[in-house]
Amino acid sequence: MSALVRLEVEAGIGTIRIDRPPMNALNAEIQHAFVEVCREAAERADIAAVVVYGGEKVFAAGADVKEMATMSYTDMVEHSALLQDFTRALARIPKPTVAAVTGYALGGGCEVALACDWRVCADDARLGQPEILLGIIPGAGGTQRLARLVGPARAKDIVFSGRFVDAQEALAIGLVDRVVPAADVYTAAREMVARYVGGPRFAIRAAKEAIDRGLEVDLETGLEIERQLFAGLFATKDQESGMRSFVERGPGKATFEGA
Ligand code: CAA
Repeated sequence: MSALVRLEVEAGIGTIRIDRPPMNALNAEIQHAFVEVCREAAERADIAAVVVYGGEKVFAAGADVKEMATMSYTDMVEHSALLQDFTRALARIPKPTVAAVTGYALGGGCEVALACDWRVCADDARLGQPEILLGIIPGAGGTQRLARLVGPARAKDIVFSGRFVDAQEALAIGLVDRVVPAADVYTAAREMVARYVGGPRFAIRAAKEAIDRGLEVDLETGLEIERQLFAGLFATKDQESGMRSFVERGPGKATFEGA
C-alpha cells in the first residue's frame, strides 16, 4: 500500500483518502495503490459504504501532468489500461460510494468522482475535464461516464472546451448531487451513505449491479440482468427476514444480517 492513498474505516464507512499535496496529482503510484484499496474496500465485511476524499483543500487536480509529459506513445499504450483500471476498480465496488469534493476535481480527479455513485461538493468547488488544453482527451473514463451522467451535449461542451464548472452549475446539470459549505463536505458525504450501514448488503449490491450493468446494455438484456439478480435474492437470509418482518410487524421494521 502507498502512503499517498489510505483506506480508513470508521463506523462501517471506508474512506479512501488521497493524500498527495498540494494538488493530489494522480501519479502512477497512486493509480496502482487506488486499485488495491478499492479491492480491499470491496472485500472487507466491516465496510458497508465508501467515501472518496482528498482532504479539506482539494479533491484531485488530475493525472500527474509532469509524469505524463515524459511519456511516449508506446509508454502510453502500456499505461493507458491502468488509467481506466483505477477508476473502474472504484466503479465496481459493490457498495454505495460517494465522492466528497473540495477545491478542484479536474481531469482524472473528476473521473474519480464520476466513478462514484454520488458526488457532494463544496460551494466553491470547480470540476472539469481540462485535458483538451493539454492536447489530449480524458483517459480515465471521462468521455464515457460524463456523457452518461449529464448527457452527450453537456459532456461535449465540458470536454471540448476544458472549462471549469462551478458548484451551482454542476448541481443544475446533475454533475453533483449536493452542494454544501466547504467545511461540511466530508461530513455530508458520510451522512449520505451512513444509512446503508447495517442494510441488506446483498440487495444493495444487486441493485447497484442491475443499474450499472443495465446502463451498458440494451433494455431487454438489462431486464434479464434484473430478473436474475432479483430471483437470486431469494437465496438470502435478508429476503427471508425482511419479508417475515413485514408480514408480522408491518413495513420498515426489519433489521438485516447482511447475509
Ligand atoms: N499534475 C501535476 N502537477 C500539478 C497538477 C497536475 N494535474 N495540477 C497542479 N499541479 C502542480 C502545479 O504544477 C504546481 O506545482 P509547482 O508548485 O511545482 O509549480 C502546484 O501543483 C500548484 O498548482 P498551481 O500553481 O497551478 O495552483 P493554482 O491554484 O494556480 O491552480 C489548478 C490550480 C487550477 C488545479 C491548476 O494547477 C491546473 O489547472 N492544474 C492542471 C489541471 C489539469 O490539467 N488536469 C488534467 C490532467 S490530465 C488527466 O487527468 C488525464 C486523464 O484523463 C487521466
